[in-house]
Amino acid sequence: MFAIPLGDGAELRPLEPWRAEEFLAHMDRARDLVDEHIKLASAVTDPVSARALLTSYAEKQAADSGRIYGIWLDSTLVGGVLFRIFDAATGNCEVGCWLEPAATGRGLVTRASRVLIDWAVEERGIHRVEWRVSSANTASIKVAQRLGMTRDGVLRESSPHRGVRQNTEIWSVLASEWRERAGTSG
Ligand SMILES: CC(C)(COP(=O)(O)OP(=O)(O)OC[C@H]1O[C@@H](n2cnc3c(N)ncnc32)[C@H](O)[C@@H]1OP(=O)(O)O)[C@@H](O)C(=O)NCCC(=O)NCCS
Repeated sequence: MFAIPLGDGAELRPLEPWRAEEFLAHMDRARDLVDEHIKLASAVTDPVSARALLTSYAEKQAADSGRIYGIWLDSTLVGGVLFRIFDAATGNCEVGCWLEPAATGRGLVTRASRVLIDWAVEERGIHRVEWRVSSANTASIKVAQRLGMTRDGVLRESSPHRGVRQNTEIWSVLASEWRERAGTSG
């Protein structure tokens, strides 16, 4: 129900507060990989914080300022994609993602991100989709490249993470570029 097939037994579904325990169990499997680059896992450490994070996204969704979706592979929650920021008034949004290690290397996040970007551009009139990533996060940069994004620039030493101030790269794709790629890739 309410699932978008991603192929190869994977599905994209809304990740709602009632799934907090499943989300926490998944995040415990994903924690080491996710902690390396982003703060998401450190915000999800017990049932209360798992529910609080999903509730914050339910509230963002109600305000049309963000959304979160899970990726299920063979009925197990293995990762997700989100609109960390969504601003229909200015036509800007930011997409983010994560996976647990067993689900990497299959193109799941690339395919799930395409669903989000298609929806943002075609249904919501978003003009610019952004992807913010640490320069050290090679796997995520490869996703941005696979999505046809352009590297706009670098916020040097902008993001303190695990005691190091990391460079944050800003990647983006514009609606016209997204449509052009869709047209050429059939
Ligand atoms: C970022 C992250 C989600 C990327 O995971 P990933 O598995 O590399 O990304 P995808 O799901 O898009 O899969 C791409 C990989 O699958 C391969 N692949 C297999 N089938 C594919 C398909 N049909 N389409 C696209 N890629 C496919 C690609 O070649 C690629 O592998 P490679 O990098 O060895 O070439 C993961 O490293 C992660 O969770 N990191 C921690 C959290 C994080 O950093 N989030 C991003 C913050 S900016």
